[in-house]
Amino acid sequence: MAISANGYVAREDDSTPWSSEEWEAWREMAESVGNLVIGRKTYDILNAEGELGKMSSVYKIVVTSTPGNHKERDGFSFVKTPEEAVNILKEKGFQSMLISGGSGLNTTFFEKELVDEIYLDVEPRLIGKGISLIRALDRDFNLKLLEHRKLSDNTMQLHYKIVF
Ligand SMILES: NC(=O)c1ccc[n+]([C@@H]2O[C@H](COP(=O)([O-])OP(=O)(O)OC[C@H]3O[C@@H](n4cnc5c(N)ncnc54)[C@H](OP(=O)(O)O)[C@@H]3O)[C@@H](O)[C@H]2O)c1
Repeated sequence: MAISANGYVAREDDSTPWSSEEWEAWREMAESVGNLVIGRKTYDILNAEGELGKMSSVYKIVVTSTPGNHKERDGFSFVKTPEEAVNILKEKGFQSMLISGGSGLNTTFFEKELVDEIYLDVEPRLIGKGISLIRALDRDFNLKLLEHRKLSDNTMQLHYKIVF
């Protein structure tokens, strides 16, 4: 997840003022993992911007309460639960899954303890009014910093493991 220095993943109006280096790093990670799981609102935004079409080699899953009758369409699989996304990727032989937001989808994966590592790409910006990385949770999660690296002069990537 790209994140502002004050912890927001987007502005309140859903716009995302991220650097080109950040977008590139995200695309590279999705291509390296080979899959991407996003919430329906993020799908609507990224699809309209044409971002997802650039990732033809990435298996893309959208989580939505209304997947409809055609669960596979236009290069996307639509599923009703996070567990369904996990099972599809397991069946396809993936060892890892890349959960790519937004805030609502992240929250549901945390609630179900289906996240074991986090990548935060901290962008050099304080967002005035924004959307948080996750919504309110009933518990804390402790993190261990595994790696840090600069994506550019101004953007730092933090790689954490969740300590259960
Ligand atoms: N900074 C970053 O790296 C980054 C990455 C991604 C997104 N974003 C930003 O995040 C914002 C969107 O976040 P958001 O929280 O509004 O929306 P979201 O998480 O993208 O999507 C929420 C939707 O996902 C579906 N969903 C989530 N959990 C579900 C569950 N357990 N079961 C069934 N469906 C589930 C529901 O879709 P239905 O309503 O269809 O049922 C829900 O309304 C945007 O501003 C976007 O730009 C930032």
